[in-house]
Amino acid sequence: MPSADKPSELRDMLHGLRGKPYARGFSLPGSFYTDPEWLRIEREELFARDWCCVGRVDEIAQPGDYFTIDHVGEPVLVVHGRDGVIRALANVCRHRGTPVASGSGNTRKFLCPYHHWAYDTSGQLLNAPHLDTHEQFDRAGCSLPSLACETWRGFIFVSLQADPDDLRAGLEPLDAVIGNYHLEDMVTRYQAEEVWETNWKCLLENFMEGYHLTPLHRHTLHKVNPSRLCSHLRPGPRHFGYRVGFTERVTGERIGHADLRDDEFDQCVMFAVPPGLAVGVGSDYSSYLCLRPRGVDRVVVKLGLFFFGDRWQQDDIDAAVELFRETMQEDKRVLAQLQLGLASRFHAPGPLAGPDLEGTIWDFYQYLGQRLAGDALSRPSATREQTT
Ligand code: FES
Ligand SMILES: [Fe+2]
Repeated sequence: MPSADKPSELRDMLHGLRGKPYARGFSLPGSFYTDPEWLRIEREELFARDWCCVGRVDEIAQPGDYFTIDHVGEPVLVVHGRDGVIRALANVCRHRGTPVASGSGNTRKFLCPYHHWAYDTSGQLLNAPHLDTHEQFDRAGCSLPSLACETWRGFIFVSLQADPDDLRAGLEPLDAVIGNYHLEDMVTRYQAEEVWETNWKCLLENFMEGYHLTPLHRHTLHKVNPSRLCSHLRPGPRHFGYRVGFTERVTGERIGHADLRDDEFDQCVMFAVPPGLAVGVGSDYSSYLCLRPRGVDRVVVKLGLFFFGDRWQQDDIDAAVELFRETMQEDKRVLAQLQLGLASRFHAPGPLAGPDLEGTIWDFYQYLGQRLAGDALSRPSATREQTT
């Protein structure tokens, strides 16, 4: 695969790989992971356009619960309204623009710290001190802007698009695979937010391929989910993923929803809803990562474990958290190293292992190609290679 540098060449390269079979899959050139201009394009054309997961519903389980995030530079307030509705609001005061909330918590109203304009938990303006005599003050028109917000299987998704496509319809093929696990019933018992020194795509690719499970996680995850038990899943319009069998479980018991078939108990389903969500689904407990790029070599990751049912002993929860944390530390170290190699002048794309081991990486590139290749054939510099 030739090297590529400028964003237009990167777009052409993505166009060129569209529809190609797994047996012709190569990794991407380093500039996909190191070029600030390319990251700007990804933030604008992926994260600011697609549905992005921002967390789990049970983070804001009670009316009045909220958390705030920076979503591609937009201050966003995610709140469980006193009326029971989960919303994403622009965290931008309608007076002169200060974020009205920070961090997370539970509240009856949001009080802007600057001049004390007050909003209820649906974003309606409640009070604006000393504005009564203003001749053109439209109180009713001064709500915090509402963003598109959906929940699916216990995950909260936000879109900055005014009229985004139908998230649930796009996820129906994935629902057919993971529906019986009932992720929406699982309860978060471990959550953290970290900054990893890697490009966001490296972390998504890492979580989504089983090739490294045995070699990198020899003394941790390999004992539970070895590479040899990985099998590729057919990708859908909004997801890609793979299955991996279990050799042992954290608990000796069979924990999971009554809807699950035997074969579903015995495997983990790893899926991604790009650009930012990756999930490892087990019958007993599941893990997830929500990614928000901060720089070419920095990504903010909200990560957690959520558990099915209430038959859990604290020791077993602790063991699951420990395994997850150790495994993540191993990934974190190797991805920081990978980032150094990607920036090397000697880096060159390498061949990807077959569909069961790295097919998901190729699926991810197909997603990138769909969203970012643009109409490459209409540009003079286009690669006119036939796709297969
Ligand atoms: S900026 Fe919020 S009250 Fe003035
Ligand atoms: Fe890993």
